[in-house]
Amino acid sequence: MSDLEFVLFLLSLALIIHNLYRRKQNYSLNLPPGNMGWPFLGETIAYLRPYTATTIGKFMEEHISRYGKIYKSHLFGEPTIVSADAGLNRFILQNEGKLFECSYPRSIGGILGKWSMLVLVGDMHRDMRTISLNFLSNARLRTHLLKEVEKHTLVVLDSWIENSIIFAQDEAKKFTFNLMAEHIMSLKPGKPETEQLKKEYITFMKGVVSAPLNLPGTAYRKALKSRSIILKFIEQKMEERVKKKTEDNDQNELLGWVLKNSNLSKEQVLDLVLSLLFAGHETSSVAIALCIYFLQGCPTAVRQLEEEHIEISKAKREFGETELSWDDYKKMEFTQCVISETLRLGNVVRFLHRKAIKNVRYKGYDIPCGWKVLPVIAAVHLDPSLFDQPWHFNPWRWLQNNTRGSQNATTASNNFMPFGGGPRLCAGTELAKLEMAVFIHYLVLNFRWELADTDEALAFPFVDFPKGLPIRVQRHAL
Ligand code: HEM
Repeated sequence: MSDLEFVLFLLSLALIIHNLYRRKQNYSLNLPPGNMGWPFLGETIAYLRPYTATTIGKFMEEHISRYGKIYKSHLFGEPTIVSADAGLNRFILQNEGKLFECSYPRSIGGILGKWSMLVLVGDMHRDMRTISLNFLSNARLRTHLLKEVEKHTLVVLDSWIENSIIFAQDEAKKFTFNLMAEHIMSLKPGKPETEQLKKEYITFMKGVVSAPLNLPGTAYRKALKSRSIILKFIEQKMEERVKKKTEDNDQNELLGWVLKNSNLSKEQVLDLVLSLLFAGHETSSVAIALCIYFLQGCPTAVRQLEEEHIEISKAKREFGETELSWDDYKKMEFTQCVISETLRLGNVVRFLHRKAIKNVRYKGYDIPCGWKVLPVIAAVHLDPSLFDQPWHFNPWRWLQNNTRGSQNATTASNNFMPFGGGPRLCAGTELAKLEMAVFIHYLVLNFRWELADTDEALAFPFVDFPKGLPIRVQRHAL
């Protein structure tokens, strides 16, 4: 036996002993039932098979009916506990940093960057989060962002031509991208540099959601290339700010503010900006597209929205006002129900990635330290034991004095987690709701719309309309 063969023999022996030890350890644990699938691949391919976004998909359906709402599997290359249980999901999110920790696949860090908020944990996550929350605070929403959201909504809606077919998903992306690009780096909509960045971002996004194969021609490889172009662009903007010595007007944008008020390194600022652009435009644009889709199938909800928004705009006209105010936004009660129902049924973010950092016992089951844990929030939102007829778009279920069905709005809220929860609750929650409400305001006051071709939201598991949600729009002025 050569030296190399001997070393390989020792390594294999160590691996076998390690696996036997782990198996023995696991035998003494009360793991949830489940199937670990194929060696290495586990059940990942079946788990990721696309399905209609308003359902939980065949994989989840079959596993829940066979094993219950908490089961074990092998996903994304790791032994995993999957949870469709509302209580366990809340428990996982609230124990972030104590029993569980955010743990996205390594490929996400590769593309979003090692300083991205999605992959950071501990103190560094807390510092980045504080900066983001500061920029997305309620005070800034009132004083600054409401106006910006209104402006960017109108830029998009004013470009819609009477009786034409538009691709609602692209339009929603245009709106949220322009808003974030201006808020983060003062980029103006329609300018060549903004359009160029948007183009790179589309390639980048395709890679974020594709298989992480860094091979010539793959979406992932192209996205890595786009990432470096986008980073160069942001770096150039940083240099401009440094040369200008950050004057007052930069305080309204994230980049200028971070350079003046934080001690982040250049690399950290770049990843922060890149991941905020990603988190801030991809999710809320899908939510707006879903809202347009659900509403075209629910004329009663559109009529009720029209009544709510006509009343708001009439009152404004009487006072000679044109721009929406914070008080107007607060009057949009039924609109908030439509937003909640869209997020519940459409499930923009379907599950989160966590890992157990201690041995945990829950409802008699053991979750071993080091195992991946997937709280599937979509499965709770579509659970018939928690939501009446969960597959129906029913915004009235969210009214406090709900008279349609036996649903109690408070019970519904307790099981509603479209923005995650605990110390990692989405930093853009309030901005996303504001964007959706303002967009709905101008949409229902100015347009009627219908599907121009059959299309539906699919979960890949990221939610997408394969045909881009083509709608025919007719102008009206209410
Ligand atoms: C409907 C739209 C949106 C949905 C459904 C959504 C959903 C989520 C979810 C579920 C998380 C938690 C991820 C986890 O715990 O692993 C999250 C985190 C985050 N979201 Fe959103 N989001 C939306 C819009 C936005 C917007 C507009 C922004 C603005 C920039 C934003 C910024 C963030 C940030 C910075 C985080 C990381 C928070 C942290 O780790 O502390 N999101 N989002």
